[in-house]
Amino acid sequence: MTLLEPESTGTVRTTGGPVIATERLVLRAPGVDDAKAIKSLINDRRIAENTARMPHPYTLKDARTFIDAVANGSEPAFLVTLADGRIVGGCGIASLRDDGPEIGYWIGVPYWGNGYATKAARAIVDYAFGELGYAELMAGARVSNPASRRVLEKCGFQWTGVVLQRIRSINSSAPSDRFRLDRGLWASLRSWGKLQAIA
Ligand SMILES: CC(C)(COP(=O)(O)OP(=O)(O)OC[C@H]1O[C@@H](n2cnc3c(N)ncnc32)[C@H](O)[C@@H]1OP(=O)(O)O)[C@@H](O)C(=O)NCCC(=O)NCCS
Repeated sequence: MTLLEPESTGTVRTTGGPVIATERLVLRAPGVDDAKAIKSLINDRRIAENTARMPHPYTLKDARTFIDAVANGSEPAFLVTLADGRIVGGCGIASLRDDGPEIGYWIGVPYWGNGYATKAARAIVDYAFGELGYAELMAGARVSNPASRRVLEKCGFQWTGVVLQRIRSINSSAPSDRFRLDRGLWASLRSWGKLQAIA
């Protein structure tokens, strides 16, 4: 079982929305100047086909629509950035199905395999339970996406079953594993990690 160390070292509220700092990553709201970088990272079929709502091709207009939606909307969404400011991906919380709020994330292909998705997902899970006070979180990953499944397992999510998920970029539905993490399990995994550290 995964032991969860607190991922986030702190959340700071700025005029641009909350900023979540972790040891290696900073999660922040997207701004108008980020459109080009977002477009160039997301505009890849490997990302679109593994997420529910992303169009493909992904245009500058799509990036600007996304930035406006985050600024005006109620669903938290963050860019995942490195300490030097480079954008490597994104993550957020949305309600895509009727089983509750779910986390989603993507990492630009050049940055895969560095643990960024796991770190970002843990940070947003901490934010959802800690700052937002959620009782439970859902997540989904296409059955053909073992990397995402692994990320969710490393965050403590537990598999609940398979559903058909609408995938915009393929204009069709695909089998998708569903996962759930409740607040009690999250708190237990976090405190177990701390107990082990002092034992
Ligand atoms: C899924 C995704 C977010 C992973 O990003 P990442 O930063 O490379 O992920 P991490 O490095 O944190 O962890 C990936 C884990 O999956 C494992 N993994 C990668 N490819 C794998 C495969 N083919 N089979 C099994 N495990 C695999 C890695 O070994 C790693 O686990 P480990 O740290 O225990 O070794 C990224 O590939 C992506 O953006 N994909 C497209 C969008 C997407 O799938 N989003 C998630 C759905 S909401």
